[in-house]
This record gives sequence, C-alpha cells and structure tokens, in this order.
Amino acid sequence: MTTPVSSFTETFDAIFLAIVIFSVITLLLITAFMVYFVIRYNRKRHPRAEPIHGNTTLEIIWTVIPLLIVSGMFYYGYEGFRYLREVPEDAFSVNVVGRMWDWTFQYENGKTSDKLYVPLDRNVKLSMTSLDVNHSFFIPAFRVKEDVVPGRTTYLWFKPQTVGPADVFCAEYCGQRHAYMLSEVVVLEPEVFERWYTGEETAPPAAVPSATDAAPAREVTGFTEDQRERARKVLWDNGCFSCHTTDGSENLGPSLKGLYGQDRYVLVDGQERVIPADGDYLRRAIVDPDAELVKGYDGVIMPPADDLDPEELNLIIEYIKSLR
Ligand code: CUA
Repeated sequence: MTTPVSSFTETFDAIFLAIVIFSVITLLLITAFMVYFVIRYNRKRHPRAEPIHGNTTLEIIWTVIPLLIVSGMFYYGYEGFRYLREVPEDAFSVNVVGRMWDWTFQYENGKTSDKLYVPLDRNVKLSMTSLDVNHSFFIPAFRVKEDVVPGRTTYLWFKPQTVGPADVFCAEYCGQRHAYMLSEVVVLEPEVFERWYTGEETAPPAAVPSATDAAPAREVTGFTEDQRERARKVLWDNGCFSCHTTDGSENLGPSLKGLYGQDRYVLVDGQERVIPADGDYLRRAIVDPDAELVKGYDGVIMPPADDLDPEELNLIIEYIKSLR
C-alpha cells in the first residue's frame, strides 16, 4: 500500500520543486559567471584593473529580474498558505488533544480514539489543544503541521485522497518521550468509516492498547473481562500508559506487572525503607506518588492522580493486583 496523500501533497510538492529548480538555475548561473570572470580578467590577460563607475541598464536588470522571481515565489507561497488556512465549510470536525506523550482524537458523536480515523475524499478539520506543554501535530504525508498549545485552540485541515495509514508525529520537543509521541491517521473507505463511526463500540479495536498479548493466562480470575477493560480505560484516560507498561517491559516508570506483593525499596524523606506493595501501598503510590519515591525512579516526577473517584481507584488497584 502506498502512503496516503492529501489534496495539499501535489500542490505543495509542485511549489517546492519550482523553488528548487529556480535555486539550482541561479546557482549554476552565478557559478558560470564567476568562472568566466576569473578566466577573462585574470592578471595575464588583463594586467591593469579598470574600475567601472555605474551602469544604469545593468542595475535595473539585476534589480527587476530577481524581484520578479521572488514575487513569483511569494505569490505561490502565499496562495498555498491561504489554501491551507481556509477551512472548507463542510469539513468533518475532530478535536485533537495532545499531552505528554500521546494524542487523543475526539469525535462530535462522543467517540474517542488514539488513532485518527478519517473518511476518504472528505474535508477534515482538526481543532487542537494541549493539556500540558507545546506539541506540534505533523502528518508528513499530507504536508500539514501545526503547533498544539495549552490554553489555545489551533487548527488545520486536509482532504485525504488515498486509503491507508500515514504517520503522525510530534514535531515540537516536549520532554523525555517526545520521540515516542506517535500516532497514525487511518484513511478509510467512506462505508468502512461510517460503520466504525456509528458503531456501538466506543473505540476501534486498537484504541486502548490490548492487554491480551501481555500474559492474559496468568491474570487472576475473579476480575472480569469487563472490569479489566474499564480499568485499562481509566489508566489510558489518565495517561498512565505513557510511563507504565503492563507486560513487565521498561518505561519511564516501573511496570505494573508483578508489582503487587513485591517488596518496594522506597525513599521517604531521604530515608531508604522497604515496604510491601499491598493494596494500601498501591493507593498511596497513585494518590501521592512523591511521598514514597521508588528507588531507581526517584528522578522521575509522577503527577498525583488525586482526581480519581474511589470506584476508579479501587478498579485500578484490583487491576494491578491481577497482573501477575
Ligand atoms: Cu509532544 Cu514532542
């Protein structure tokens, strides 16, 4: 499958190519003249320098020609910019929320996902904001990029013209895991998109990272599939997966797998202590993570998740207990 393109791709590439061609021609002309003058006026052939005092024709030529070229470049650049900033009225609207270090896409009917699903051949408008620091939403294949700034709503639009996935990057350095702030825009056939958009499920299969490949057999029974999905949704919504994995692999914070029941080596007011990771410990570690800093992770600040309601908090704790 080829990389999808947007209605900007061709236009912008043409402008870019034209500017490159102009630049190369200019470079060749300047080099040719330079070489010619070096040979023509070297000391052997031209022993006596003769200064020139003004040449109006020449001055007009070297002013007017570059002016025309630069004006042409400006015209096409400006037209391209206007096209980019004027969102068509009928655009399909999606809200984008950036935060360290993931993207969330919110649709008008209440759906959310971690990949941007869009219908083919339809104008799409993204209204974007950030929950923390400056990010930049970048779809290289579509030739669109726009800063995503806290406390502000920025926008961009595009019209996808081929089906398939394309990369989404964060193009503004935003901290330790900036390079992992990745997502995808997935262009779907209109019928396929419609089925997903109006479908019952709140998110497409890949929206919440699945734990099924993360040792499902060893999860404690008694914690239902439904509770597990809800717990993962709470963790996802609170950004926990940015730093914690559930499969034992390393990330910014300790993995949640096998955490329960371990001895934790923690720093309390600079003093090292050993605490068993029981339910109470997990609760403290979620609500007030700075009070007992886990050794080896004491340089990483975890934002306290103190706005969880008691039910959500219990759900998470039970979920962590189940990850053996
Ligand atoms: Cu977000 Cu870099």
